[in-house]
Amino acid sequence: MTKEIKRIAVFTSGGDAPGMNAALRAVVRNASFHDLHVYGIFRGYEGMIDGDLERLERGDVGNIIHRGGTILKTTRSERFRTEEGAIPLTNPLLAFDIDACVAIGGNGTFTGADIFAEEYDIPFIGIPGTIDNDLFGTDFTIGFDTAVNTAIDAVDKIRDTADSHNRLFFVEVMYRHSGYIALNTSIGSGAGSVIIPESSTPIDALVDTLKKGARRKKLFSVIIVAEGNETGSAQDIARMVKEQFDFYDTKVAIIYHLQRGGSPTAMDRVLVPAGLASTP
Ligand code: F6P
Repeated sequence: MTKEIKRIAVFTSGGDAPGMNAALRAVVRNASFHDLHVYGIFRGYEGMIDGDLERLERGDVGNIIHRGGTILKTTRSERFRTEEGAIPLTNPLLAFDIDACVAIGGNGTFTGADIFAEEYDIPFIGIPGTIDNDLFGTDFTIGFDTAVNTAIDAVDKIRDTADSHNRLFFVEVMYRHSGYIALNTSIGSGAGSVIIPESSTPIDALVDTLKKGARRKKLFSVIIVAEGNETGSAQDIARMVKEQFDFYDTKVAIIYHLQRGGSPTAMDRVLVPAGLASTP
């Protein structure tokens, strides 16, 4: 017999992403339209283990659609990685009579949801919320578009000063396991080169490209470096390049967490409500 769902819980977990608040708003308002009670779990899996839940009404998610971060807060729960944390003797959501859960996050969040759902026979819906755009089954994740736009904006600004001073800039952007952000940032900002985890970039090859550019009278350049690439950090790469080719005055800019903040773009606000609106 299928169980009727009357009370749902929603939480954000892992790295925050611009648009998580808009997704939360959509979940709460849509659930309220369907007469469901919604509980917000604070601090991701930490809050789930601690029973840190509060009832959320329509008004509680007012004026958040444009805000970055997550009003529910988020954690990378170390406790949830332990067996006692992930699978406590009693389902911590039992006290609140939660029938189903909505998890907003990335890979780690979904893995946790899988473990929890199996252990307690509670259905989960995952909303892809991560700047990394590295989740299977969706073309885009909430936060990716904003993160890339923020990175491109930063590179546009760096380009101005690189051009004025005839400098070579290495700009390091997030993600340790995938070059999606770096690749899109480099294409969108017209960068000279990009170094990503998915392919190896020998320093000699990079120096050759720079030398060719210099021969064409390219007096400045911006190179995008993804956090987790094999060649090294932007600092390491800048030093290695300089040892072989010191034609350019070289600088490094690391923009990391800047990319996770800020007001979500239209795309990161609309991705989830559009999906919910199309459900019967
Ligand atoms: O998963 C999102 C992400 O922003 C990655 O791009 C990055 O590698 C990582 O989180 C950084 O995590 P933290 O903010 O915990 O250092």
